[in-house]
Amino acid sequence: MGTHLKRGFFISFEGPEGSGKSSQCKRLAASLRKAGHSVVAVRDPGSTELGRALRRVLLHSRQRLSPMAEALLFFAGRVQLMNEQILPALRKGKVVITDRFHDSTIAYQGFGGGLDVRWLDATGRAAVDNRLPDLTLLLDLSVEAGFARLKRTKDRMERKALSLHRRVRNGYLELARRNAKRIVRLSAMGDERAIAAEVLAAVERQLRKPRGKG
Ligand SMILES: Nc1ncnc2c1ncn2[C@@H]1O[C@H](COP(=O)(O)OP(=O)(O)OP(=O)(O)O)[C@@H](O)[C@H]1O
Ligand SMILES: [Mg+2]
Repeated sequence: MGTHLKRGFFISFEGPEGSGKSSQCKRLAASLRKAGHSVVAVRDPGSTELGRALRRVLLHSRQRLSPMAEALLFFAGRVQLMNEQILPALRKGKVVITDRFHDSTIAYQGFGGGLDVRWLDATGRAAVDNRLPDLTLLLDLSVEAGFARLKRTKDRMERKALSLHRRVRNGYLELARRNAKRIVRLSAMGDERAIAAEVLAAVERQLRKPRGKG
């Protein structure tokens, strides 16, 4: 660790509601900084002016939106996040950690909302110029266990039917099977520190692997 990363290193956290993504993002950023890496942590949507505006619409309004409207808004926010924050940081050789990314749209609007998964995948990849994360950590737990952890009021996405959230979780598991090289599934049921250690081990393993162009 602590070596200079020529192309940067791009990590995303994914998983159902309450799976510990935000907590693990913080812990991983702290561990990597301690190891000498320069780290940029972002969340998707968010972290840009457009992202913050989209968060209000997508998460904190009572507005009815179709899965297609949601998907296109999430994509727009991601393009902006990519151009303003992620790509510039990667070009400087930094480690970028994002709280949600491409797979969230496939899981929620595709598997959950019924949009065509192949179309979403192709469009989502085009939106980010095919720069998917080098490593995706899927924090997996049951929908019930995830919701039991949420203490605050549910946001717009969280208020959707439990059946949708179950399809989201199963969709994530399917994505992990289809993208076994990129996505590492970890159980989110252990204690936070034990999971953080597993996350760090997965990151270190991936950092040591030679990477192709992508
Ligand atoms: N391993 C864990 N065991 C028990 N509780 C946890 C664990 N990790 C996080 N939590 C707690 O569960 C709640 C949700 O965690 P966190 O906000 O990190 O999840 P999230 O995946 O970011 O959720 P959201 O989908 O709402 O963004 C928080 O109160 C957090 O302190
Ligand atoms: Mg979170």
